[in-house]
Amino acid sequence: MASRPARSILVLHGPNLNLLGTREPSVYGRTSLSGVNQAVERHAVSRGASAVCRQSNYEGQLVDWVQSAAGEGFAAIVINPGALTHYSVALRDAVASVTIPVIEVHLSNIHGREEFRRHSVIAGVAAGQIAGFGPTSYLLGVDAALALPAASTGGPPARARRAARRAGR
Ligand code: DQA
Repeated sequence: MASRPARSILVLHGPNLNLLGTREPSVYGRTSLSGVNQAVERHAVSRGASAVCRQSNYEGQLVDWVQSAAGEGFAAIVINPGALTHYSVALRDAVASVTIPVIEVHLSNIHGREEFRRHSVIAGVAAGQIAGFGPTSYLLGVDAALALPAASTGGPPARARRAARRAGR
């Protein structure tokens, strides 16, 4: 496993979130992606943790990052899957396959928008979902991740710890 400070959170942004600030500002606000990332990184540090932010327009890249996060030493993932939220079974399967907690976040309140946005295929396998608070959704996502036992200890996820206990390791 790569060495990272305890409580390091991987923050992932999906398709089109590179356009934050100029993309439909009435829905997503005027803060750019780098502005969101700076706020997230500062917030994590203020909580005694750290955050690494990545964005991709490609489903496969996001799947790869989710799969490798634990091996890279991250204690949890905060992800805004963008439109993939609503249809990516591949991303859902990746989230379901990892043992570290995954928190789903959205800038907008997807439950108050068009019908097709109200369903998330990710939510059922995420630890939880935060939606509707603009960039603050990400900060709440970091707080939620840190409140979960696996991330707050910086140690192996609870499921792995339980398995190790059962196996007498
Ligand atoms: C979004 C909501 C999605 O429906 C949309 O496709 C996005 C952004 C949000 O953060 O509100 O790209 O995930």
